[in-house]
Amino acid sequence: MLKGKTVVLGVTGSIAAYKAANLASMLVKLHADVHVIMTKNATNFIHPITFETLTNNKCLVDTFDRNFQYSVEHVALAKKADVMMIAPATANVIGKLAGGIADDMLTTTALACTCPKLIAPAMNTRMFENSIVQDNLKKLTLNDYQVIQPAVGFLACRDEGAGKLPKEEVLLDYILKEIAFEKDMKGLKVLVTAGPTMEAMDPVRYITNHSTGKMGYAVARNCMLRGAEVTLVTGQTSIEKPRFVTVVPIESAREMFEEVTGRAAEQDIIIKAAAVADYRPQTVSDEKVKKGGDHLTLELEKTDDILKYLGEHKKEGQFLCGFSMETEHMLENSRAKLKKKNLDLIVANNLKQAGAGFGTDTNVITMITPEEEISLELMSKEEAAGRILDEILKLRR
Ligand SMILES: Cc1cc2nc3c(=O)[nH]c(=O)nc-3n(C[C@H](O)[C@H](O)[C@H](O)COP(=O)(O)O)c2cc1C
Repeated sequence: MLKGKTVVLGVTGSIAAYKAANLASMLVKLHADVHVIMTKNATNFIHPITFETLTNNKCLVDTFDRNFQYSVEHVALAKKADVMMIAPATANVIGKLAGGIADDMLTTTALACTCPKLIAPAMNTRMFENSIVQDNLKKLTLNDYQVIQPAVGFLACRDEGAGKLPKEEVLLDYILKEIAFEKDMKGLKVLVTAGPTMEAMDPVRYITNHSTGKMGYAVARNCMLRGAEVTLVTGQTSIEKPRFVTVVPIESAREMFEEVTGRAAEQDIIIKAAAVADYRPQTVSDEKVKKGGDHLTLELEKTDDILKYLGEHKKEGQFLCGFSMETEHMLENSRAKLKKKNLDLIVANNLKQAGAGFGTDTNVITMITPEEEISLELMSKEEAAGRILDEILKLRR
């Protein structure tokens, strides 16, 4: 995902410095070229050898070190960098950067960098809340730094509060948002639905389906990484919500209908990947459920057809994509649905095919448009999401 990208990772003298090793490793696994610059004080917390082994690059500490290729290293790295992240960033380094001080390799390189710069403060809560530190952070924000807010929790100093370095996965997502993928969806508003709906039978029980939300979440995340402004309307799932996406949780088909249709007019692209229950119990009461004795009879009624509504109210230039999960006659049924619901694209998968459908991390999809049908081999849901978005962008042109 990060092949050909250069990440400069600045590490400073905070107890959280150990987390930077994991972050460096994650970036390397995504094929980034990672260069770590440490402050001298950071070497008290973690040894440069750790980063050198993980990144295969010399870890820079001393501005006047002669033991590397001849080039003015801080400028060379600053020019090469696609993104610079300082994590953890001490109060000291934040102060120096805000004051334009460049008295070590890290601060000197930061001054020379014109790429996106991300800074993740990590310190004791009292230090973080100190007005001088806050003023310095504001100043950095005004000067092209993106400040990543620290997490709140139990700190190494045994205090509780804001100041924790966010998890490595969170830091990685900030980097990915900047440099993973071409930003070919910048300026586009996308609404994605995902997950199952739950239809209450009584105050305790409900009817639902096997959707895990994985496919829809992968689509939403991919849109976000490609620069779109994403809203995710989601039923209950156990997977982590994608970051940098507006998440709207819902339970029932009715709630999903209201949240989606209420936002539809402002969207450029709508992708419905949720598995919405077709039917819901007609009345929700204790009475109805208990009455049946050994047998439970429920009267069901149709839920709102979200896709049909969206197709009927499609605004000029809006792109509408649906999913179809079939157990038989996949292509015929999907083609009919495409036409009937006025969709621009339908992504079909056969629930009986190995590796496709609910729950799995993979999918086997066929993309159907009024003009063509494209069948893809088995691939991860992330990869499938990327292919679906490529197709949508191609068709919107
Ligand atoms: C055990 C220990 C943990 C520290 N943790 C932090 C920290 O999390 N954040 C911070 O701003 N300073 C922390 N400090 C203080 C910094 O190390 C100190 O201000 C140092 O001058 C920072 O140098 P640097 O910014 O050049 O890396 C810690 C100091 C010690 C001894």
